[in-house]
Amino acid sequence: MKVSVLGAAGGIGQALALLLKNNLPDYSTLSLYDIASVTPGVAKDLSHIPNKVKVEGFCGEDPSDAIKDSNIILISAGVARKPGMDRSDLFNINAGIIKSLTEKIAIANPNAFIGIITNPVNTTVPIAAEVLKQKGVYDSRKLFGITTLDVIRAETFVSELKGYNNKDIAVPVIGGHSGITILPLLSQVKDITFTEEEVKNLTFRIQNAGTEVVEAKAGGGSATLSMGYAAYRFTMSLIDALNGKKEVIDYAYVDTSDSDNIPFFARPVLLSVNGIESHLPLGDLSPYESDMLDNMKETLNNDIDKGVSFINSNT
Ligand code: NAD
Ligand code: LMR
Repeated sequence: MKVSVLGAAGGIGQALALLLKNNLPDYSTLSLYDIASVTPGVAKDLSHIPNKVKVEGFCGEDPSDAIKDSNIILISAGVARKPGMDRSDLFNINAGIIKSLTEKIAIANPNAFIGIITNPVNTTVPIAAEVLKQKGVYDSRKLFGITTLDVIRAETFVSELKGYNNKDIAVPVIGGHSGITILPLLSQVKDITFTEEEVKNLTFRIQNAGTEVVEAKAGGGSATLSMGYAAYRFTMSLIDALNGKKEVIDYAYVDTSDSDNIPFFARPVLLSVNGIESHLPLGDLSPYESDMLDNMKETLNNDIDKGVSFINSNT
């Protein structure tokens, strides 16, 4: 197994690389790439941890050597929010970064699973899809926006409120990855009931948890450690699927244009060695959740359109 991290010298990249170094299957390769010249040093540092995962480091303008032959390419390259910013304020810089990295992937390794962390995820994933389509190598089953951070936050906040061990709590989170497009389905949490007020408060907190971290870091960036953990957890699902494990189910922001009137949507998917095997049903939604779903549609569609037109007007 070979896993590449693009943006590996950053806050998320380093946390994620540490977790992958310690948890990838024996004899895997972890390939780290960033424009920052410290990246080979980050790889050297990790390589002193005694286990059977090989670490390589690359820097400079071209990620091609770092992504060659990778099974999974994770992208956290780009800028992060500061207080007062929305994720959409990152578009101007990050859209171009995702475009150019995906163009390289289209040439050097179009068959890899691609996991996008870089914000605004609602828009960067459609950007990557459009680039791959233009290059004639798009496989919608292999492109994932990583929304696992919303899922782990939901698990944590529910268990904080209800006093359960959060390992036992599963909370579906659907939609997208910003503000009102993040929709936790609290009505589907097994064996736990919530008052209307609890549902409203928890939903609001899960939707604004990124801002909670941005404000607490006071100009020092956004979530890096919890995101590193979240991306690691999602990567392990991809690895299970690639290793042929059955019934691997996880949540991600994926291409739903075949089945839905919103072309990208975070939802449960069944994973296999080929990527997304099928989209699983969203299940029953409460009236509150149905209203929230209706309310997010315009925002999410606008976010997606912005990515699609960015590529189509820049080629
Ligand atoms: P960071 O600034 O600490 O790290 C970003 C890294 O990207 C830096 O090392 C930088 O050198 C590198 N980089 C910039 N341009 C590059 C390029 N063209 N090629 C390769 N590397 C490049 O930021 P961070 O805290 O790690 O956050 C990274 C991104 O992840 C941000 O966009 C942030 O908003 C996003 N994020 C997403 C989620 C999510 O849930 N999906 C959660 C947290 C953060
Ligand atoms: C998060 O949810 O923590 C990330 O998307 C980073 C951010 O800007 O909030």
